[in-house]
Amino acid sequence: MRYSVFAGGKRLRPILVLAAAEAAGDPAKAAGGGPESLLPAACAVELIHTYSLIHDDLPAFDDDDLRRGKPTSHKVFGEPQAILTGDALQSAAFSLLAGAARDTDAPGPWIDALVELAAAAGSVGMAAGQWLDIEAEGQPIDMVSLEALHAAKTGALLTACVRIGALLAGADDATLERLRAYGRAVCLAFQIVDDILDVEGSVENLGKLPGVDADRDKATYPGLLGLDGARSEARRLRDLALRQIEPLGASARPLALIANFIVDRSQ
Ligand code: IPE
Ligand code: IPE
Ligand code: MG
Ligand code: MG
Ligand code: MG
Repeated sequence: MRYSVFAGGKRLRPILVLAAAEAAGDPAKAAGGGPESLLPAACAVELIHTYSLIHDDLPAFDDDDLRRGKPTSHKVFGEPQAILTGDALQSAAFSLLAGAARDTDAPGPWIDALVELAAAAGSVGMAAGQWLDIEAEGQPIDMVSLEALHAAKTGALLTACVRIGALLAGADDATLERLRAYGRAVCLAFQIVDDILDVEGSVENLGKLPGVDADRDKATYPGLLGLDGARSEARRLRDLALRQIEPLGASARPLALIANFIVDRSQ
């Protein structure tokens, strides 16, 4: 568990939790202290994400040898061990949120966060998306199905990060709706750029081997729209996301920077 969690990674999902809380209002309000009181939520989403990477790299999925600049979990510890490591990281994530709910006088938002994360990780979220991704290998796919695949596979967890941060900061309904729309657009842009980097990124920057999607005949945006088409779709989504959070003012600046990073990144 430590090997994969502390191998590095951009920590985009925990940062989104914190940035969304900042944009939504008072991060300390519902979480019961300074921004550091949000850390159980920030860590929980990273644990779910790291579990998903370990399973995604298994021979039964993408069969990858390198992750976060290091040999993948199953390469180092064996396949059964990597499966169990992922399982245990998932339990640890829910344990963090449940513990935070237990230890506060205002458990409501934490329970909301727990429900949000459970939905995002499970059969209507990431697990469903991974299922669709595997089923789509080698098959023709249209834009509507590809968008649905990406929205579940990567988008559900990323959107949940934004919503969890907002819920814990006591966001009102209008702000929550803006952040939801920001999340939806930015998440799709994120996976489009992941697909682009698989075509033109370097192993040094990515810490994982590029070219895997073509090898496995994955359903991707560059595959459907070409590289230029995929790039302009990512930029269109980024602009959409920025427009959603503009009315929130200076407190949403970190979210705006994240949206730009997601589209301009090389790692
Ligand atoms: C990679 O996610 C897997 C996808 C969901 C596309 P990241 O690019 O956020 O991976 P890390 O956390 O930085 O390693
Ligand atoms: C992984 O998508 C999505 C999840 C782990 C849920 P990819 O298979 O495209 O991610 P990378 O490119 O291996 O990081
Ligand atoms: Mg995959
Ligand atoms: Mg993969
Ligand atoms: Mg990828």
